[in-house]
Amino acid sequence: MCRRLPAPKRAALTPTVTAPLIKPTPTLRDALRAATRSRHEALDRALMPPGAEWTRDHYRRFLRGTLAALETIEPAVASILPDFTPAGEPTRAVRVRQDLRALGDGAVVAPLGVPDLPDQAAALGAAYVIEGSMLGGQHVAHALVRDLDLADGHLTYLRPPGVAIGPRWKAFVAALDAFGAAGGAAEWRAAEAAADATFAAFAEAFRREGAMR
Ligand code: HEM
Repeated sequence: MCRRLPAPKRAALTPTVTAPLIKPTPTLRDALRAATRSRHEALDRALMPPGAEWTRDHYRRFLRGTLAALETIEPAVASILPDFTPAGEPTRAVRVRQDLRALGDGAVVAPLGVPDLPDQAAALGAAYVIEGSMLGGQHVAHALVRDLDLADGHLTYLRPPGVAIGPRWKAFVAALDAFGAAGGAAEWRAAEAAADATFAAFAEAFRREGAMR
C-alpha cells in the first residue's frame, strides 16, 4: 500500500530586509562629542555627584567658576565668530554676575588666561562647549529649583529669558556641521583641540573656585 507522505513545509517566502551596511558619516559635532566625552563625564560627576544636593554655597562656587572661564572665552569666541551671539542679551558673563549678586556675592572673580583661539575652527570648538553647556545647564537648573527653590531671578545664566535652548542648539549644530563638511582634517583637529582646551579651562576654574565635589 502506498501512503502519501505529507508535503514538506515550505518556509514562508517573506522578503529579507537587511540593515544598510553603510554607517552615516560622522559630523564635526559627533567628532567633538567623542573627543570631549571623558572630560564632560568627569566634570558632570565632580559638579553633581549622584545623590548630592545643591546648596547655595555650591551654586555660588559653580557660578564663580563659570564666570572665571567665560570672562575670557566668550569674548575671544565672539571676536572671531561675528554670528556667535550670546544666548540672549546681555552676555553670559553679565548674567552670571547678576545671579551671583542675587546670591549676595559681588566679589571679584579673577579670569583665567586668554585661550588660544587662532582661527574659525578653534573658535567653533570653544563655542561648541559654551553652547552645549546650556543643555546640561537645564538639568542643573531643574536640580537647583528642586533643592533650593530658587526663583528665576537667580537663574538668568542657566535659563536665559526668552531663549529657546533646543532650537538654538539645533541651529548652532547645523552651522557647526556645515563648517565641518566644508573643512578638512586640519580644521577638525583644530576644533577638537580647542573644545578639549575649553573643557580643561572650565575644569580648572571650577577647581579653583571650590565647585568640584
Ligand atoms: C552638573 C553639570 C552638568 C551636567 C549634569 C551636564 C549634563 C549634560 C547632559 C545631560 C547633556 C545632554 C543634554 C541633551 O542632549 O539634551 C549635556 C550636553 C552637553 N554638555 Fe553638559 N552637563 C553639565 C555641565 C557641563 C559643563 C560645565 C559643560 C562645559 C563647560 C558642559 C558641556 C556640554 C556639552 C558641550 C554638551 C553637548 C554634547 C553633545 O554634543 O551632545 N556640560 N550635558
